Amino acid sequence: MKDTSPQTIYLSDYTAFGWTIAEMHLTFRLSPSATRVLSRIRFEPNPDAPQQPFFLHGEELKPIRAAIDGTEITPEYSAQGLTCAVPSGAFTWEAEVEIAPAENTALEGLYMSNGMYCTQCEAEGFRKITFYPDRPDVMATFTVRIEGDEPVKLSNGNPTASGEGFAEWHDPWPKPAYLFALVAGDLVNHPGSFTTMSGKEVELNIWVRPGDEGKCAWGMESLIASMAWDEKVYGREYDLDIFNIVAVDDFNMGAMENKGLNVFNSSAVLASPETSTDANFERIEAIIAHEYFHNWTGNRITCRDWFQLCLKEGLTVFRDSQFTSDMRSPEVKRIGDVIDLRARQFPEDQGPLSHPVRPESFQEINNFYTATVYEKGAEVIGMLKRLVGDDAYAKALDLYFERHDGQACTIEDWLAVFQDTTGRDLTQFKRWYAQSGTPHLSVSESFENGTYTLDFTQSTPPTPGQPDKLPQVLPIAVGLLNPNGDEIVPTTVLEMTEATQSFRFEGLSARPVPSILRGFSAPVVLDRDTPPEEKRFLLAHDTDAFNRWEASRDLGRACLSAMVTQGTAPDTAWLDALERVIRDEALDPAFRALMLAPPTQAEMAQQLHAQGITPDPDALYAASEALREAMAQRWSGWLADLRATCAVDAPYDPGAAQSGKRALGGALLSLLTRLDGGAAAQAQYDAADNMTLQLGALGCLVQAGADTAALASFAKQWQGDRLVMDKWFALQVAAIAPDAAVARAEALTRHPDFDWKNPNRFRAVFGALAMNHAGFHTKDGSGYALLADWLIKLDEKNPQTTARMCSVFQTWKRYDADRRAQMQTQLERIAARPGLSRDVTEMVTRLLS
Ligand code: TRP
Ligand code: ZN
Repeated sequence: MKDTSPQTIYLSDYTAFGWTIAEMHLTFRLSPSATRVLSRIRFEPNPDAPQQPFFLHGEELKPIRAAIDGTEITPEYSAQGLTCAVPSGAFTWEAEVEIAPAENTALEGLYMSNGMYCTQCEAEGFRKITFYPDRPDVMATFTVRIEGDEPVKLSNGNPTASGEGFAEWHDPWPKPAYLFALVAGDLVNHPGSFTTMSGKEVELNIWVRPGDEGKCAWGMESLIASMAWDEKVYGREYDLDIFNIVAVDDFNMGAMENKGLNVFNSSAVLASPETSTDANFERIEAIIAHEYFHNWTGNRITCRDWFQLCLKEGLTVFRDSQFTSDMRSPEVKRIGDVIDLRARQFPEDQGPLSHPVRPESFQEINNFYTATVYEKGAEVIGMLKRLVGDDAYAKALDLYFERHDGQACTIEDWLAVFQDTTGRDLTQFKRWYAQSGTPHLSVSESFENGTYTLDFTQSTPPTPGQPDKLPQVLPIAVGLLNPNGDEIVPTTVLEMTEATQSFRFEGLSARPVPSILRGFSAPVVLDRDTPPEEKRFLLAHDTDAFNRWEASRDLGRACLSAMVTQGTAPDTAWLDALERVIRDEALDPAFRALMLAPPTQAEMAQQLHAQGITPDPDALYAASEALREAMAQRWSGWLADLRATCAVDAPYDPGAAQSGKRALGGALLSLLTRLDGGAAAQAQYDAADNMTLQLGALGCLVQAGADTAALASFAKQWQGDRLVMDKWFALQVAAIAPDAAVARAEALTRHPDFDWKNPNRFRAVFGALAMNHAGFHTKDGSGYALLADWLIKLDEKNPQTTARMCSVFQTWKRYDADRRAQMQTQLERIAARPGLSRDVTEMVTRLLS
């Protein structure tokens, strides 16, 4: 965990491991503070690898015994692993080590959560379990024996034997160590089953702590839907007799795709109408699908090295977003994904943490499980599909699975299947994997003699380590409308490859109105001086739902920008155009709910910064409030009536239809609360029979400042439910007035239920504080200082989660000199801590660079 001189690892230094592994046998003798791990591994020389000393990774292991071909040996141990002399041919390695899962607070390797044993090995956690070549290109079949009194003992693959105090598992599919998993404890299962397309029956289970059985039905439904979808859309069938999911309370991320034994953060799998919001249900459906889809994109075909992480993550995010689009509304999903990309990936790509989708160096790989690798990685695949077309995409994927099944691959392998199926040269396209930063695309237009011309210019600002940028391949989806609002040129994908490039549309009788970058067809910043009346026209008429939303969002950003920089009043022409969409009952309520949400303050800070204006968080908060107040006042005549149309009088269902209505109803309630002081919100709170309505109402009450009684009654009602209490911790910090946010967060850290070593609880308070934009950026710097105090404290226990949280400082250079200096001081204070983890050292070094 502690490392004073972190080493940088380079993609260009890749070399294959000198041995292959035919079989890996593992025995665990479980005990909280002294678990014994016995390994027996058959190594064979790898003819394709250069000569090298025999090295096995191993960290924080207590060696008990080591032997080669039955003869005890004494290897040379270091903090990273061991070396020893080995025979020139094949040999059998045996080792016994001792580890202490109960003392493992980093939640990496074998650890305990609420008395239950569980593992997390991606990326490099297996080396904390035993000595092994812990790298994704070393694949082996695993046979695992677990010895212990725990009633349930699980590992990867199929169960082969069990009895008093032991269970054995065999995984027939060769896999890298990062996909190993073990779970043991007092667990109960929610069973299910699935018959695959070739008629094989698969046993399904969701394993939970006793008491959580009632929260598994949705996860099971989502799993079955995912299995069916992957067969139907990608032709991918499941390949074991059993598929297990386990819910764990203490977990650093969302979930993990271990072969046949997915381990989930309980927040990413457990759901019930009473305890989970619609957004929770949708997220669970997506994460279950994501982890399940990894079975092919990640597990059957894995990564050669960790620089290729986007090979599995970008593709699997892309697949899970296709799945959600099919299960729900593709338009709503796309808008949500772009909101998320701009909120999380753009700041990363435009700040000190910017890195390519395929990074070329790292110190701690855990720091590269980022929005760039995941979400921009998925955008890159979306562009590839747009460029080659749906049929070629399907063919390329078939070839990918056929050619690379069982292999550890690279981005070059991935692109080659597209080149080979389409004959297209993807050399330039590959820049999307190598070049960091967000391209800016500007456009001007002209119309002459029936010919309409769009002139595009692209450029990407410099990013750390990459001063000069080359033009990217940009698929620009464009449609043209005539002045009546009819579409005269349907969506056409223009393929831009040069720094500047023109595209002509001929034979038009009148100057058209362009709808550019439909569906957000490339992850760029579009700079175009569009007159507001044209944006209102698109808001009213565009056939592309994304651009309809974007037109309004643009008007919203322009409105808030003028409010803070020129002190103007809210743009009523925009509000009136928006009103027509929101009240159009022919439109999907979920879409209307998205239209109703104004740009966030963080988004506005990004926008102003891009315009060369230093954002003032207090002014942005005031403008946001004034805008919402203006919406409420201007629309006071119909808000309540429209909200009434959102009522659902059927049993709760988390699907798109009902959740869309609740989303719109919730957005309307938030405006209504400004008019009635919280009366409607209180009524909804009192009558709510599901968490979406209950939490939505509570949020309104907190925002209205009328919160104390409702917050107290909520805590009383839900004190026994960790996941609901996370919402209680988060909501009050996120929704409270900014001048009270730091004090509230600080008070909550003294709450008896503030179990700060639990990542969900830590994030509930501090993730929420960072989301309260003006609260976190309080002028006196107290928000920064409080967070830094806690990051320093958490780093001693859990470097991975601490390092991830450091990224809330990634926008620090945007702000005024005072705030900048305060954030810099806190980052330097963290950096100066003796014994700081490698994870956090790398993050703060990059942030300060
Ligand atoms: N591979 C996992 C996913 O994308 C994420 C993951 C990586 C992870 N490292 C982790 C999850 C550490 C938990 C802990 O789904
Ligand atoms: Zn993943």
